[in-house]
Amino acid sequence: MTEHSSPLTFDTSWQYAPAPESADHISLKSRYGLFIDGKFRKPRSGKYFDTINPANEEKLAEVAEADAADVEAAVKAARRAYDKYWSKLKPAERGKYVYRIARMIQEKAREFAVIESLDGGKPIRESKSVDIPLAAAHFFYYAGWADKLAYAFPGRDPRPLGVAGQIIPWNFPLLMAAWKLAPALACGNTVLLKPAETTPLTALKLAELIQEADLPPGVVNILTGAGETGAAIVRQPGIDKIAFTGSTEVGKIIQKAVAGTHKKLTLELGGKAANIVLEDAPIDQAVEGIVNGIYFNQGHVCCAGSRLFVQEGVAGEVIQKLKTRMQTLIVGDPLDKNTDIGAINSRTQLETIESYLKIGQEEGASMYQPAYPLPEKGYWCRPTLFTDTAQSHRITQEEIFGPVLAVQTFRTLEEVVAKANNTPYGLSAGVWTDKGAKIFGLTQQLRAGVIWANTYNKFDPTAPFGGYKESGFGREGGLHGLEAYLQL
Ligand code: NAI
Ligand code: MG
Repeated sequence: MTEHSSPLTFDTSWQYAPAPESADHISLKSRYGLFIDGKFRKPRSGKYFDTINPANEEKLAEVAEADAADVEAAVKAARRAYDKYWSKLKPAERGKYVYRIARMIQEKAREFAVIESLDGGKPIRESKSVDIPLAAAHFFYYAGWADKLAYAFPGRDPRPLGVAGQIIPWNFPLLMAAWKLAPALACGNTVLLKPAETTPLTALKLAELIQEADLPPGVVNILTGAGETGAAIVRQPGIDKIAFTGSTEVGKIIQKAVAGTHKKLTLELGGKAANIVLEDAPIDQAVEGIVNGIYFNQGHVCCAGSRLFVQEGVAGEVIQKLKTRMQTLIVGDPLDKNTDIGAINSRTQLETIESYLKIGQEEGASMYQPAYPLPEKGYWCRPTLFTDTAQSHRITQEEIFGPVLAVQTFRTLEEVVAKANNTPYGLSAGVWTDKGAKIFGLTQQLRAGVIWANTYNKFDPTAPFGGYKESGFGREGGLHGLEAYLQL
């Protein structure tokens, strides 16, 4: 059953005037090579692919497709840079380079934010206030650790691993690059980074910035390409460490490929987070937290609060308020400062989400979407709410990675803990309640790496992030994030 709100019940007497962020100040080349040994180079195969703007399907630039020979050349450059320079450099000097990258990202924050929204479809409000500042914050934070590693791990003689291969997804392109590069460099490793094929542009702008920052050639190499390029990085024998963020499916392939080799591995995979609202929660604040947890950023967040558990006494009120709020969410131009929900990252991802909308209805859940119109070109999905769902439904079990929320109700805390933990994932969770004791009680029992209380999706470089079970292993951020790049 599909229920659409009638446009007549929605107060349309007011509207925001468009407030587009200017894109005049950005500079993009029409074609990008591979960043190897400090220079942009042509790919050996001569192959390029397009990266498009998912909000209008227009081509933004062509980027090179790296093959195994390019990967090998990058590994050689990274090894040379490691042996000759980076591992011998005084840690305080290494820290200065990392600090310089942080400063330069801040200086170019506007350009990075606009390119992030153009290439990936996320609202400019998010890229400006979350992605880019947090990316800079990660470089600042890890710059500080570079010469203090011995204090971080007293008596354990911390040493870099060597050359790291890092493969990242499309949902937070620059931020994921920062999460991977900052600790690796601060610890004295050299790297090959592969951005996702739909969002390579901010990583390539970062390559330009790294050139400008005068980092020794080969310390950072940035290779574009799709799954085959990623697989070539994973296979490369000259790499000492693989760090991956992306789907559980690819994470498992990588784990198999790395098994039995000397390579160290960290995986940050999917999630199906429970956002739990108790009867004594501040309801309006919780509704805003639910919206922030699943709808902002199109639900393209691995820790998105995609399962909502509401205690029975407040379920009616929470769902009603949520539907009202959903009607006011603005879906559209990612560059407009009023936009809450931008474009879905790719046609493939939109098809995945749409297939789950169908599955949910076939499973017997009730689907609600606001009725407002969507732009004609580009990839869009209205914020979606499923009620009448069951634990056994695929929409409550599987990661959808879109603005789709599945709601269940519960009576007791024991019941909600059992339901919330009944998933192959364990990345994050949220708890909304007025009582500190209930927060502590629940956080002890929920199997999730990160648990937010009376807030959602808050990040800080000093706090470790990572999951349990099929959400992966290893931690990024904080002191824990250093361990992934050190021999102890
Ligand atoms: P994906 O896991 O295929 O892509 C992530 C990265 O891995 C990309 O850079 C990709 O080029 C690379 N890659 C793909 N195949 C590879 C291989 N065999 N070896 C090495 N690298 C490889 O994710 P995709 O297809 O973009 O999204 C599929 C689903 O994954 C989404 O619907 C979502 O559920 C989940 N996902 C989770 C993310 C997270 O942050 N945990 C991020 C992106 C997607
Ligand atoms: Mg793109």
